[in-house]
Amino acid sequence: MDYFAAVTRAKELRTIIDQANIDYYQLDAPTMPDSEYDRLFHELLAIEKENPSLAVSDSPTKRVGAAPLSKFEKVMHKKPMISLDNVFNGEEIKVFVEATAAALGVDAEELEWCLEPKIDGLAVDLNYEEGVLQLAATRGDSEIGENVTANIRTIRSIPLNIGAIGPVPSIVGLRGEVFMPQDSFIRVNQEKEEAGQDVYANKRNAAAGALRQLDSRETAKRGLDFFCYAPGHIEDMGFKTQFGFLQYVGSQFGVPVNPLTCLAKGIQPVVDYYQQMMDLRPTLPYDVDGVVIKLNSFAHQEKLGEKSRTPRWATAAKFPAQQAQTVCTDVAWQVGRTGVITPVAKLTPVECGGVMVSSPTLHNVDQINRLGLMIGDTVVVERSGDVIPAVVKVVLERRNEEARPVIPPTLCPECGAPVIQIEGEVAIRCSNTISCRAQLRESVSHFCSRGGMNIEGLGDKYVENLVEIGLQDVSGIYKLTKADFMKFPRMGNKLADKLLAAIEASKTRSLRQFLFALGIRLCGEGTAKRLVEHYTCVKEIAAATREDLMRIPDIGPAVADSIVSFFGNSGSAAVIERLRDCGIDPVAEKAEKGTKFAGLTFVFSGSLTKFTRDEAKNMTEKEGGKASGSVSRKTTYLVAGPGAGGKLAEAQALGITVLDEDGFLAMLSA
Ligand code: IVH
Repeated sequence: MDYFAAVTRAKELRTIIDQANIDYYQLDAPTMPDSEYDRLFHELLAIEKENPSLAVSDSPTKRVGAAPLSKFEKVMHKKPMISLDNVFNGEEIKVFVEATAAALGVDAEELEWCLEPKIDGLAVDLNYEEGVLQLAATRGDSEIGENVTANIRTIRSIPLNIGAIGPVPSIVGLRGEVFMPQDSFIRVNQEKEEAGQDVYANKRNAAAGALRQLDSRETAKRGLDFFCYAPGHIEDMGFKTQFGFLQYVGSQFGVPVNPLTCLAKGIQPVVDYYQQMMDLRPTLPYDVDGVVIKLNSFAHQEKLGEKSRTPRWATAAKFPAQQAQTVCTDVAWQVGRTGVITPVAKLTPVECGGVMVSSPTLHNVDQINRLGLMIGDTVVVERSGDVIPAVVKVVLERRNEEARPVIPPTLCPECGAPVIQIEGEVAIRCSNTISCRAQLRESVSHFCSRGGMNIEGLGDKYVENLVEIGLQDVSGIYKLTKADFMKFPRMGNKLADKLLAAIEASKTRSLRQFLFALGIRLCGEGTAKRLVEHYTCVKEIAAATREDLMRIPDIGPAVADSIVSFFGNSGSAAVIERLRDCGIDPVAEKAEKGTKFAGLTFVFSGSLTKFTRDEAKNMTEKEGGKASGSVSRKTTYLVAGPGAGGKLAEAQALGITVLDEDGFLAMLSA
């Protein structure tokens, strides 16, 4: 095909494919069999491969994902992505509507509202230039988000070009919610389960997981969707109302808008909508956690304006936590890493708020007593938002004679050692801290986990296999051979090599990761970080006294005691010795105790491209400096990236030295 024929055909194919996407994803009315779609898609791919200049950024072929990123760039939002206040019932809705009318000085019965379902997903900001999607960012801290454009391009319902139907202004910013529909959620979790990975607890987490993939080809497979709910940074198009805006972007830009959006006047219709959506909720193919009530008139919105983080002209009316009833068929006792034995309710699986609940934790014996739970009882489980489902109530009226009391074990269910209870603690524990397999399994898992030695691929299943073949403690990991791995079910050559390489790679982890990996009770990532600021190796920490440790900020008596007792224990000392023999004895880099920035306070502002805000903070603190969020007289340097705005002006007004990112890095390496 000559070039001109290719240009014409590519354009034609893009139009047909875009329309097929709209029919399928937005109108729910497919017009083309999958096989035909695939054929046209591959024809377009082939033309673009032959003529790379035709592979424009709004081509539907971009939806399959691009090469992986090493990290997400930071993006400064052109206007902050504010959130919403909440109300929780009809009465509170009424109060909100009346107060808003009063603030506007109008009759509440005359005030018009735009009502929308509140989708439980993640807010994103889409930016179109000359009609083409150029930048998509997450909300982040409301001012600075992350550039997830490649991932957003894979969402089929989001148009890559909003100029297909009619003319568009040069700058169009749109905001909305990215979410995971029910069918994608079920499929994604099935795939996770088959791969032996942890499943997502809910659709919101699954959507977040999909959107935060550095490899957009992975996002493309997850089946995300989108509804637009607000203008972002947008050229004035003369919109008068929220409803008008949504209708326009839906019909003229081809952007998905929730079809359950409607207008209402007065108080009762708003409350009715809340109730109707609550009834509709279980039937919707996506999660809705409330409704959003917005003043319809943009003039009204402007008049009321915003508080610091939320608008006065809108609120979210949240639905009550979702509850379900089921039967508790048993209580299991799980032994954790530190020997704590936790009761877990075994329930007849029940759906609650979109997730299946079958084994919620009961936390401890006190909680069982508080609930008055007996085995065989009918119970109420509840899930609200992100919170893990919990048993909140026993339905006493439904208790029958077969109900039997929950009896805590006197012997460890894993190793048979006596169970003890330390004075002042609610938890019960296995007294065998040396050879209980459950504790070993949990501590090995923790050792390998991402925050610890980060041994990629060595998940819970393999850890279980390792304990079965006789792993004695975490040091044994470094003595494993390929032959050991080959004993596992479904293990192949390549995978075994990969695991061994991951184990080898973990030998270079930092002192901070190592300390966390050891699983010292009460020593989380924060404490590990503090310790590394004051000590350079494990030997120094092991020699520290309770008093030494308590001089470190944030380390109190309980944490200090736990650290001293860990290193004083002959068992842990022996494991540390064996790890050292395997070459694992990390030393904190000098920089971790640096003093270059002692007494200096830095503020970072604008979009940073060479490092993230967290990295900047870490680098500053490692050198003894302070990183602060706001400019004041105490600020020594402002490190400003593009779009630093308000903070830059404040710093200049106070005569504070302003650096760019390179200037900061130069100081760091000076
Ligand atoms: S309006 C100023 N409308 O809920 C307007 N938000 O709890 C800001 N959300 O951050 C948001 N559906 O991510 C709006 N129809 C809707 C929404 C919606 C879901 C999310 C959004 C926001 C959060 C606030």
